[in-house]
Amino acid sequence: MDIALLGIPMDLGAGRRGVDMGPSALRNARLSRTLRDIGHRVSDLGDVPVPLPETRDKHEESGLIFLEPILQACTAAGQQLAMLGEEVFPISMGGDHSISVGTVTGAARSQRSGLIWVDAHTDFNTPASSPSGNIHGMPVAHLVGLGDAQLNSIGGGWHMRPEDIVMIGIRSVDRRERDLVREQGITVYTMKEVDQLGISRIAEETLERLGSLPRLHVSFDADALDPSLAPGVGTPVPGGLTYREAHLLMELLSESGRVTSMDIVEVNPALDHQNQTAHVMVGMAASLLGKRIL
Ligand code: ARG
Ligand code: MN
Ligand code: MN
Ligand code: MN
Repeated sequence: MDIALLGIPMDLGAGRRGVDMGPSALRNARLSRTLRDIGHRVSDLGDVPVPLPETRDKHEESGLIFLEPILQACTAAGQQLAMLGEEVFPISMGGDHSISVGTVTGAARSQRSGLIWVDAHTDFNTPASSPSGNIHGMPVAHLVGLGDAQLNSIGGGWHMRPEDIVMIGIRSVDRRERDLVREQGITVYTMKEVDQLGISRIAEETLERLGSLPRLHVSFDADALDPSLAPGVGTPVPGGLTYREAHLLMELLSESGRVTSMDIVEVNPALDHQNQTAHVMVGMAASLLGKRIL
């Protein structure tokens, strides 16, 4: 397969500094080499330009911290992805999760797409519901067309249908965010369902729900994993996916042959030990892209 890597060193949507080093951390952990060893052709498109937080005004009072530069970077990322050939599998390397407003939209190439959101958080806040004003807590709401009009119109009014979204690994949802997720009818497998049903049943149900859509995007936030396994994240939450649960999920999604794009987000090497989190996430990408034990 042809794989394109795109770095989006975004550190404007999160509350803690350092996630802009995510693309470097993933390259350093040999993402492209690992995918080549599986047999793919990999090209690295480099990084989308993203301004540093120190050089911009937060505009905190707006309820949307750093909206302007986030809009610009997400638009640029989305345009670059939308130009790729249909058969190219893009992997967007964040950066914080605000990038997904652009990457999910661009990777869809204007087609109806399913979204598998692997995360500790639902990231379904709107500016009105967000307790923090951090845009990395808001991408999914904006993908379905809620929230800020500028942010949700990235990609020219293409929106996801709530019924085409499945979230897995969830264990931290803000109070008003919870009402929005329920109102919109998003399918959510919290850690309770992961414990109760097992990840293989969840993968099966997810593919039953989304597997016939023309495109399927996996957005993988490193904080979905248990913090003991992936400590290099800005918003760790105890009780996450184990190493094998996460790999099995990627392996089963890979076997379906339906996944067409991926994000790897929230890897923060400034909070990590020995770049461990990037290495773990490279392993996840490998499993999603066909690495097999035998
Ligand atoms: N729900 C919290 C907020 O809105 C945390 C979001 C964390 N999101 C993430 N992509 N790590 O601020
Ligand atoms: Mn997230
Ligand atoms: Mn998260
Ligand atoms: Mn809109």
